[in-house]
Amino acid sequence: MAKTLPNLTFTSLILTIVTVLFSSLTLSTAKPYRFSRTISPESLGLKKENLSHFHFYFHDILSGPKPTAVRVASAPMTSTSATFFGSVVMIDNPLTVGPELNSKLVGRAQGIYASASQTEVGLLMVLNLAFTHGKYNGSALSILGRNPVFSTVREMPIVGGSGFFRFARGYARAKTHSFDLSTGNAVVEYNVYVFHY
Ligand SMILES: *[C@@H]1O[C@H](CO)[C@@H](O)[C@H](O)[C@H]1NC(C)=O
Ligand SMILES: *[C@@H]1O[C@H](CO)[C@@H](O)[C@H](O)[C@H]1NC(C)=O
Repeated sequence: MAKTLPNLTFTSLILTIVTVLFSSLTLSTAKPYRFSRTISPESLGLKKENLSHFHFYFHDILSGPKPTAVRVASAPMTSTSATFFGSVVMIDNPLTVGPELNSKLVGRAQGIYASASQTEVGLLMVLNLAFTHGKYNGSALSILGRNPVFSTVREMPIVGGSGFFRFARGYARAKTHSFDLSTGNAVVEYNVYVFHY
């Protein structure tokens, strides 16, 4: 007993020293973390805000060997609902400059549309317009909106964007160009108006 006691005391002394050393070390090297601050728009290179108009066609392809819109979920009542209420569809739809699928590809609409209305075919649209054309390649606009598909023109908010479209805001107007009743495939004309830097 008498032999181990000094050892224990020595060990705790070392521990205390180490603890004190480390805590003072952390204190002296602690970074002044800053959670928020106000900055100028110029510091992010934001100069002039532009208003841009984009015009393209959205191809919703449900049929064939390579559909770009696939149903990923539904509710037990979806099959008996006149408005497909509860259906959730994942899309990776091509966006082209003309209404023909083989016209120039400018991007893809990637995201989800879901049947969110019990009184009409009204979709909740949550998607990104991921552009691949020219200087917009790699930039995307985000849509979060309501799409009552049988209305002639549907307007959906552009809620933001990335790349060229940082701080984007605006709206998209969608108009059905053609709809194939047998396959369910649709070509939708989009006019997008967006403020961005
Ligand atoms: C867009 O960017 C990607 C990645 O940088 C590149 O691979 C692709 O070729 C570009 N596409 C066009 C159409 O410029
Ligand atoms: C905004 O418009 C100016 C003048 O047309 C142009 O030079 C600039 O590249 C545009 N900026 C963006 C982000 O498109």
